[in-house]
Amino acid sequence: MVLNEAAGALDWMMDKSVVLGYSKLGPALRRAWWPADPAVGALVGRHVLVTGASGGLGLAAAGGLARLGAVVHLTGRDAGRLERARSSLLSEQPHAHVRVHVADVSDLAATASFARDFAAEVPSLHAVVHNAGVLPPKRTTTAEGHELTLATHVLGPHVLTYGLRDLLAGGRVVVVTSGGAYGQRLAADDPEYAVGDYFGVTAYARTKRMQLVLTRLWARDLASDGITVHSMHPGWADTPGVTESLPRFAALTRRLLRDAEAGADTAVWLTATADAIGTGGFWHDRRRRPTHYAPVGIETPEQVERFWAFVRAQTGVPARDEIFPSGA
Ligand SMILES: NC(=O)c1ccc[n+]([C@@H]2O[C@H](COP(=O)([O-])OP(=O)(O)OC[C@H]3O[C@@H](n4cnc5c(N)ncnc54)[C@H](OP(=O)(O)O)[C@@H]3O)[C@@H](O)[C@H]2O)c1
Repeated sequence: MVLNEAAGALDWMMDKSVVLGYSKLGPALRRAWWPADPAVGALVGRHVLVTGASGGLGLAAAGGLARLGAVVHLTGRDAGRLERARSSLLSEQPHAHVRVHVADVSDLAATASFARDFAAEVPSLHAVVHNAGVLPPKRTTTAEGHELTLATHVLGPHVLTYGLRDLLAGGRVVVVTSGGAYGQRLAADDPEYAVGDYFGVTAYARTKRMQLVLTRLWARDLASDGITVHSMHPGWADTPGVTESLPRFAALTRRLLRDAEAGADTAVWLTATADAIGTGGFWHDRRRRPTHYAPVGIETPEQVERFWAFVRAQTGVPARDEIFPSGA
């Protein structure tokens, strides 16, 4: 259904209220006016890679993509969990095409190597869904020395996207970020969260803000290859990540949480829709959303340039096109 004025106002009010929009009420009401589902068979024969798909939203997204005919590639850090995920997907969809790959996206060297192997195995890639996420209780660094949420949500996805760039030509990149990003500014001065007391939720939300900025940068940089890039947030969904990392929040919102399929819905829709949706957008429940609720705290062009230079320097991935006239 076309979003008429009244529905638009209700949708906006739900988004601003947070609880109404982010909870299971969000999709329950919005599906009355949100854009049509992707066509049946929209992804038949197309390969889609979903990171962090051994459970939670990643597995739900993989299920939704498989239902549309995609050959889904699930990644995660643990072979046993991935095998269980594949079995559960196949028990619901026995004819689905599902492949699993052990790949830790927080390990930059291993991610570059995974991308090379994957590109040798798969003829072309319709989309990558960057879903892998963590919320560590204390500051943790990877073997390569990066703060864990930064490596998992930002640096690893950058290595993977650019490692798959040729394979992705004409395709899509979808980033699963979080409404938590609204609470944080771009930490261009301290992306590794090396200064001050460390709080896992702050690290998580800071790197989710970085994902929003990165989405726009990738959209500009990858446009010359016909690759479109969008980010989305799932609202509040009932997943192992929420119950394990945020037990108090999960207990408080238990009756309100949407199921994983509803959380993953917009990621699936962005991957498969034939609608003209441009590039560089931030979405929730199939509607473009603002990246800031208020004009305060919006990152300056100089901060964005500094962040982009940091990501490129840390990953060693050169952009092919220069997207800043001044040359960051
Ligand atoms: N659930 C929500 O309400 C909610 C809200 C906002 C945003 N999100 C976002 O949605 C995404 C999925 O969250 P979720 O709630 O489904 O979390 P989850 O249940 O904890 O699932 C996270 C997935 O990421 C994988 N993963 C973690 N680190 C990884 C790494 N280094 N390399 C590869 N895979 C890795 C995990 O698999 P292994 O442990 O097997 O590796 C698991 O499959 C995250 O990006 C999260 O920030 C979720």
